[in-house]
Amino acid sequence: MSEIAIIGGTGLAKLPGLKIIRREVVHTPFGEASGAFTHGEYGGKEVVFLARHGYRHTIPPHIVNYRANLWGLRYIGVKRVIAITAVGGITPEMKPRHLVIPDQIIDYTWGRAHTFFEKDLSHVTHIDFSFPYDQDLRELLIRAAGQAQIEISTQGTYGATQGPRLETAAEITRMERDGCDIVGMTGMPEAALAREIGLAYASCSVVANWAAGRAGPGEVISIDEINQNVKTGMEQIGRLLSTALELM
Ligand code: HPA
Repeated sequence: MSEIAIIGGTGLAKLPGLKIIRREVVHTPFGEASGAFTHGEYGGKEVVFLARHGYRHTIPPHIVNYRANLWGLRYIGVKRVIAITAVGGITPEMKPRHLVIPDQIIDYTWGRAHTFFEKDLSHVTHIDFSFPYDQDLRELLIRAAGQAQIEISTQGTYGATQGPRLETAAEITRMERDGCDIVGMTGMPEAALAREIGLAYASCSVVANWAAGRAGPGEVISIDEINQNVKTGMEQIGRLLSTALELM
């Protein structure tokens, strides 16, 4: 039974090198997950893989059933989740293709099913979310990066936007003023739901592009460029993940 899950984002609908053992469909009280849970072997360990946007990359960030994904992972016995996301870079260190292990989140999403605690409660429940990522899992990813000689930022604030459109330059300026280093569309409510349901959760982000207005005056964001940078970044992510799993 695998206790470790990897949730793949844009550019990681499949985990290259994953030796697939079986696929498991779970029906959850919250509906269907993004796809079947793929049990396999990776970095010498048993893992479960799930493509957040579906295996054909058809589910946009605001439609992803985050509750079903996390409930399903917990149901099949997962204890730790490493979530991979593609992001835009806001602050100078966050250049395209750079990897970041974020340590904080600001949530700008709205209207998403963002909690397990809303119906049939015996009491109102509030989780502590001061430090939204699991520190032990973050440290493991940081150690793995050191061992695999992959340059990363060991902290950063992830601003989660609603999407699916990209941001305006003014929105990015506001986000920088708020303290965001990177911007993505899937970090929330995923991280909070993991905390609610008792899963240790950490994330590794690949910078796919300079966020809106950051590449230079008048520059717009090219989807081709995003795809190319994500592809390069995901090769690094693959090495990082297999090293992290070896260290577990
Ligand atoms: N904004 C939001 N989400 C993203 C971006 C971005 O610039 N790049 C990749 N995911």
